[in-house]
Amino acid sequence: MGSNCNATQRKQYRDERDSKRSALKHVQFPENEKTGQFDLPKKKFYRQRAHSNPFSDHKLEYPSCPNDMDWKKLYPGFIDPETNELTSKVTIADIGCGFGGLLIDLSPEFPQNLILGMEIRVQVTNYVEDRIIALRSQNKDTKAYQNISVLRGNAMKFLPNFFEKSQLEKIFFCFPDPHFKQRKHKARIVTNTLLSEYAYVLKEGGIVYTITDVLDLHEWMVKHLEEHPLFERLDKEWESQDKCVQIMTNATEEGQKVERKKGAKYIACYRRVSNPVIIV
Ligand SMILES: C[S@@+](CC[C@H](N)C(=O)[O-])C[C@H]1O[C@@H](n2cnc3c(N)ncnc32)[C@H](O)[C@@H]1O
Repeated sequence: MGSNCNATQRKQYRDERDSKRSALKHVQFPENEKTGQFDLPKKKFYRQRAHSNPFSDHKLEYPSCPNDMDWKKLYPGFIDPETNELTSKVTIADIGCGFGGLLIDLSPEFPQNLILGMEIRVQVTNYVEDRIIALRSQNKDTKAYQNISVLRGNAMKFLPNFFEKSQLEKIFFCFPDPHFKQRKHKARIVTNTLLSEYAYVLKEGGIVYTITDVLDLHEWMVKHLEEHPLFERLDKEWESQDKCVQIMTNATEEGQKVERKKGAKYIACYRRVSNPVIIV
């Protein structure tokens, strides 16, 4: 199929992938009739508008609380055969994961952590899901990539539906949508209210990672994080020694685009501090 595929071809391709995807979520080691493996998906079949309105009422599925979520579907390789329960919970989240590059590079660095990408755009989420399915099937022997998964979700609305208080160790915001116009600033992924939600799901000592090529957005995120009482900035020395900073600088698709254009990358990392003691 040529690179200029039409809408019918894209739909056909995605329908075929869809049928495999729903089957695969339920089994540990899926078999493909011919090779026993899946090819990596092709981005051209998952085209979607660059932006999705975080305030519109998408038909999003979300659990009423974290315990109602069927996490086993997302991480079948981490099911304990004796108890039939997951051996671990998600501890690392990539918010607005886009095409999933960060998840894939974090996977081998944190083999015991469950890592989740949350992405609002449906076709982009499907692409990442298919990418993970393919990587898992191509690495059956080593069981690699069993610790990463993705779900479609709006992080601005439903984060506490997915994560318990203090569950996460790290949250990444890599090249978030800049929403340049002032009247759109409320759609930015870092605001006072949202920071309180991020502080809720992060454990004490947990880290918020931010990176962007837009100076105005960087300054916005720093300002809001500085003003929030539950976050303290980590210095450049810390950044230079942290392996996640290195990974997020180069792993994501957006970061690679910036690299090709020789653009700047602004980084700010914050530690979630302890709740203040209230003296009555
Ligand atoms: C500019 S892209 C960056 C993607 C990726 N982090 C990277 O660096 O390549 C921002 C992504 O965030 C997603 N996004 C925006 N708002 C979101 C929200 N409220 N919840 C989840 N994802 C969101 C967008 O759909 C888009 O894929």
